[in-house]
Amino acid sequence: MFPMDRLGRPLRDLRISVTDRCNFRCPYCMPQEVFGRDYRFLPRDEILSLEEIARVAGVFVSLGVQKLRITGGEPTVRRGLPELVAMLASLRTPEGGPLDLAMTTNGSALRALARPLADAGLGRVTVSLDSLDDATFQRMNGVDFPIAKVLDGIDAALEAGLGPVKVNVVLKRGENDGGILDLASWARDAGHILRFIEYMDVGTTNGWRLDDVVPAMEVVEAISARWPLEAVPARYTGEVAERWRYLDGGGEIGVIASVTRPFCGDCTRARISAEGKLYTCLFSAVGHDLREPLRAGESDAALAERVAAIWGVRDDRYSERRAAATGHLPKIEMFALGG
Ligand code: GTP
Ligand code: 5AD
Ligand code: SF4
Ligand code: SF4
Repeated sequence: MFPMDRLGRPLRDLRISVTDRCNFRCPYCMPQEVFGRDYRFLPRDEILSLEEIARVAGVFVSLGVQKLRITGGEPTVRRGLPELVAMLASLRTPEGGPLDLAMTTNGSALRALARPLADAGLGRVTVSLDSLDDATFQRMNGVDFPIAKVLDGIDAALEAGLGPVKVNVVLKRGENDGGILDLASWARDAGHILRFIEYMDVGTTNGWRLDDVVPAMEVVEAISARWPLEAVPARYTGEVAERWRYLDGGGEIGVIASVTRPFCGDCTRARISAEGKLYTCLFSAVGHDLREPLRAGESDAALAERVAAIWGVRDDRYSERRAAATGHLPKIEMFALGG
């Protein structure tokens, strides 16, 4: 029997953070002042090995997970990623079907890694890209990383068969909201699925303010005024993005309205941090340690029971509660869970 949480939500989607490190320092996620040279990232023995990750994933798949997303930090800084992908790609659902296997990346290493990852069985990639303007992009990634390398990485992903590529844009008022139409035009021409994300109050280091948020409907209206759009039904229950299609056949965009239209009611996502903690919400303050029992030799069946028990009492709906009353609850940092 697959577990349901207290709000009747099944466990369908597992996001696996394979590292807490990143080669970028986006100010809204890992600001340089906090994540500078003195910041202590997790030591190697505290992060799950590739084999441990694959084992944990297998346990979740036995409980009904159908979609695995590899995240970070930045997943491509983890050594041995293609080996991990090969292990994950060999997992099968209890009915014997393949899993949807995706990765969220900043795109900086895709020229080198797209092919080996695709060969190992990765299905698709989502690339985070906040602006097409080189100066804005360099400021927003915090390390002056040039846009050209990310664009080339996206091309490499397409060449390797990892397309269509989804491109995630986090909008921050006054930073990159002037580039919405440029991004839309570029993605239409290239056939990428562009998704605009409302800037969220994740973690405690990014100094989030409601004023920073560009509401999803504002984005839809701005793009629709140039290239008319129509709403498209969700592809599956619990889809995070609301989909919109260009009436002229120019493809589709998505908006992720986590702030203005929270979607906790259908949230079927669990997250594992690099050190092996299970988080039942992106905004959880505490995770449930799976590494200790894993390393103590607990069987897959016992681990599955442990996870099912945690899921069974889950009642998280942070974004909906924030929408109801903007309070301040303790939270984990976004970089530790990779979105
Ligand atoms: P697909 O499998 O391609 O449908 O992926 P997805 O739509 O789930 O998107 P992705 O993993 O790329 O997530 C996009 C963004 O949505 C993340 O970077 C977060 O900003 C936000 N997001 C994803 N999941 C959640 C969630 O569970 N809660 C909240 N509040 N935001 C989320
Ligand atoms: N709000 C919304 N999205 C965020 N991401 C990181 N921090 C935030 C935030 N505060 C996104 C990244 C990337 C994914 C890993 O999470 O842009 O798309
Ligand atoms: Fe790195 Fe992504 Fe966070 Fe930027 S948003 S610092 S690329 S993990
Ligand atoms: Fe799910 Fe928590 Fe996000 Fe709501 S806030 S959609 S419960 S992860």
